[in-house]
Amino acid sequence: MDPSNFRAPPLEISSILHGGMHHPTLRLFQNGGRNLTKSMLIYPIFISDDPDAEQEIATLPGQKRWGVNKLEGFLAPLVKKGLKGVILFGVPMEMEKDPRGSAADAPNTPVILGLQLLSRLFPSLLLCVDVCLCEYTSHGHCGILSSLPPPSHSHTPTLDAEASAQRIAEVAVAYARAGAHCVAPSDMMDGRIRAIKAGLMHVGLANRCALMSYAAKFASGLYGPFRDAAGSAPMFGNRKCYQLPPNARVLARRALKRDADEGADFLMVKPALPYLDIMSDAARIVPDHPVACYQVSGEFAMIHAGAEKGIYDLKEMAFETVESMVRAGACIILTYFTPQFLDWLDEER
Ligand code: PBG
Ligand code: ZN
Repeated sequence: MDPSNFRAPPLEISSILHGGMHHPTLRLFQNGGRNLTKSMLIYPIFISDDPDAEQEIATLPGQKRWGVNKLEGFLAPLVKKGLKGVILFGVPMEMEKDPRGSAADAPNTPVILGLQLLSRLFPSLLLCVDVCLCEYTSHGHCGILSSLPPPSHSHTPTLDAEASAQRIAEVAVAYARAGAHCVAPSDMMDGRIRAIKAGLMHVGLANRCALMSYAAKFASGLYGPFRDAAGSAPMFGNRKCYQLPPNARVLARRALKRDADEGADFLMVKPALPYLDIMSDAARIVPDHPVACYQVSGEFAMIHAGAEKGIYDLKEMAFETVESMVRAGACIILTYFTPQFLDWLDEER
């Protein structure tokens, strides 16, 4: 048979899809009720202990380490454009680091000063704060090192889960006292959600401070620019004994359920784009807990790098990636693209 003579039979009525997507507003209707909106965005911000810092970060395009004195000038225009939430990360450039991360909750630590200031300046802005020790410990790990020798098959240090969870809870309580509306522990120690919740209850702040768990956080290659920005790379070993193995779909499900049971209000999946399946698992297995995702530093840098190479358009790829997360079930998106989305979401698409 000559293939050029072949004609498909006439289209069925149900085959016509283009009619539903030829107008920009019709295209928005095709989301199954889930649109990316400004109020879903949380902007990660690095706060330095140098109060006047405004320091570019080589590997994170457009992002800076900000001193507390610079926060008002930096954030006021964004709040005006509709910024609803931030998550703060402390960057101690000068502060002394020690094995227990004492600087994490020192009264003058940058995130505590930042929380106090921002709650005065922008009373309606949601103030989240990352809770971890790695920026503050001399060894750069996210918890307290165990006194046991590390297992012989690996260079990974073993952390003392109980001591770590206890210390992390102390830090979270200090942040809640300083005005955090939401504490977000990223350390991945077993039992820390329970410890933090108990700590918040103990000081009477459990009804005033939400708990967002980095529940499904994977040992990813995509955290490099963040570790540059925050100075939080481990001095030895890696984080594989506490962050999930990238293949660990079933362990991630256990972590999500566990953290929901231990008192988390929100559950995060991190990184985001390589873990969309985990997001849709989360939306299904813990349906009463809103799912957050973190488009991490390496994802952001990768999107920028590709756009610079001319592989795609930056805005188009920012939307395509973040909308995939919304589609997968996330309703809270932590992203360094937030300031740009505040403009882009006002523009015609
Ligand atoms: C610290 C922390 C990390 C990130 C958020 N909190 C890095 C890590 O676990 O080493 C990564 C965020 C990003 O890459 O943007 N526990
Ligand atoms: Zn950490």
